[in-house]
Formats: sequence, structure tokens, C-alpha cells
Amino acid sequence: MLDGKTKTGPMVEVVNVTCGYGNTVVLENVSFSVARGEVFFVVGRSGCGKSTLLRNMIGLQDPRAGEIRFDGQTLSGGGQRERRKLLRRMGILYQSSALWSTMTVGENVALPLEEHTRLTRAEMRELVAMKLGMVGLAGVEGVYPEALSGGMRKRAALARALILDPEILFFDEPSAGLDPVSARNLDRLILQTRESLGTTIVVVSHDLESICTVADRVVMLGRDEKTLIATGRPRDLAGESENPHVREFFQGTMTQKAKEV
Ligand SMILES: Nc1ncnc2c1ncn2[C@@H]1O[C@H](COP(=O)(O)OP(=O)(O)OP(=O)(O)O)[C@@H](O)[C@H]1O
Ligand SMILES: [Mg+2]
Repeated sequence: MLDGKTKTGPMVEVVNVTCGYGNTVVLENVSFSVARGEVFFVVGRSGCGKSTLLRNMIGLQDPRAGEIRFDGQTLSGGGQRERRKLLRRMGILYQSSALWSTMTVGENVALPLEEHTRLTRAEMRELVAMKLGMVGLAGVEGVYPEALSGGMRKRAALARALILDPEILFFDEPSAGLDPVSARNLDRLILQTRESLGTTIVVVSHDLESICTVADRVVMLGRDEKTLIATGRPRDLAGESENPHVREFFQGTMTQKAKEV
């Protein structure tokens, strides 16, 4: 963690990336970078390729062309060992929370420790308790995921994603399936995580409400254009973008926000 803070240069660089499935190209020539400590959103309408881009950014899929660099190193470059080392520095929160239903919350959160460290049981218990406390779930170690609400499950998944002190956290649709109160609580938790741990955070979302509250910077993907159609701070994009779709999208967000205040 400290290492990450003392280094310079972007945390993630997406350089001329083209990605897709089989013969279908979903995105072409996408380039942007995510700065250290930034809360960065990838937004756009359903089907524009947000999750596909995320899969490329976390190394689950290799780009067809271009490259993804994490802390200056190409993700699809080196061998399996090198890639595994890079992936260990990332925390990932999938849309479904992906907790194992046959394991307690404590066991779920401890999984990455079992896999990547040689800590003792007592040390693991202590770390699990600390991370659960951080996400507001102190004391639920022995509970099974099905006994938790959707919002609590997301928090448990966040504790698991944070357990190895990642330098970067990736979220796919954090607010999907949550009621508005839980979704806003999760937004707050994202900001708290950045503040307390300095973690760089990349959020893939089409919940536009979060953007105004949480995002430092945003890239927007166009479904028809198959590439980036905007980059910037959400407030600037609402007023300044030349693309009417972009303005409409962000102005909608601002109006929605204003109504709620
Ligand atoms: N495994 C797959 N195989 C083939 N095509 C896929 C696959 N996953 C997604 N696609 C296609 O790629 C395109 C982009 O999908 P993707 O899931 O990345 O969009 P998204 O922006 O995340 O959408 P949503 O907001 O609904 O989650 C869509 O046309 C989708 O049908
Ligand atoms: Mg998606």
C-alpha cells in the first residue's frame, strides 16, 4: 500500500484497446488512464461494453489489440506467475457479490488470506474482524450470507475484496439490486475506503445517481460509437460536452440529483 503511494504515474493505463467476443467487436481503440487514489467511473447505457472493458482491465480477458497496464506493467505481458502477482494487488467486487453460500461470512472474507498468505488462524480471524468492522458489519463472522440483506452482502463482499489491502478496487455495478438507501450507504463506504486506505477505485455503473456523489472522473462509452464518447468530471460533462447524448445523460443525472435534494 505504502509502495503504491510513493510511486508516480497512473495506476491503470488503457492504451488503444479493442475488445469483444468471437467475431463481434464491442469496443475499439479505447484509451484512458486512472490516477492513483482516484475514484473513477466507467459509465454508459446497457450493453455498451462496460463489463467487457472491466473484464479486460482485471485480466479475465485479453484485449484483441492495444494493452492494459497496471502500475506500468502490461497485464497480458509476462507469464502466469507475473500476472498472478499483479492480480493479487487488485480487489474485485462482482455484481452478484459472489459470496459462497455454504461458508460463513467470516470464512468468505478469509478466503483470499487462505489462498495467498501463510497467516495463522488467529491472525486471519483478527484481520477478518477488522475488515468487517470497517464496512460496518462487526460481529457477523459466524452468519451465513443468505441471512444477510442485499446491502450487507455487498458490504461483506467489500470486506473480502479489501482483505489483502489492494492498491486498486474494481466494482461492477455496486448498486445493482439495492434499495436507494443501501445504494447511497455503499457510495459513502466507497468514499470512506478511498479516504482511509488511499485505494484507487474503478466503478463500472449505469446507476447515474452515484456519479455525482462519488466520481472524481468519468469515461462514458457509446454503444453505437463502440468507443469512448466522453471523459471528464461529471459536472463539466453535463454542461460542456459537444455530444448531445453525453449532455442528456449527465444533465438527467444532475436533474435527478437536484430533485432529491
Ligand atoms: N460472454 C459474451 N459473449 C458474447 N457477447 C457478449 C458476452 N458478454 C457480453 N456480450 C455482448 O457484448 C456487448 C457488451 O456487453 P457488456 O455486458 O459488456 O455491456 P454492459 O455495458 O456491461 O451492459 P449492462 O449495463 O447491461 O451490464 C453486448 O452486446 C453483449 O451482448
Ligand atoms: Mg455490465
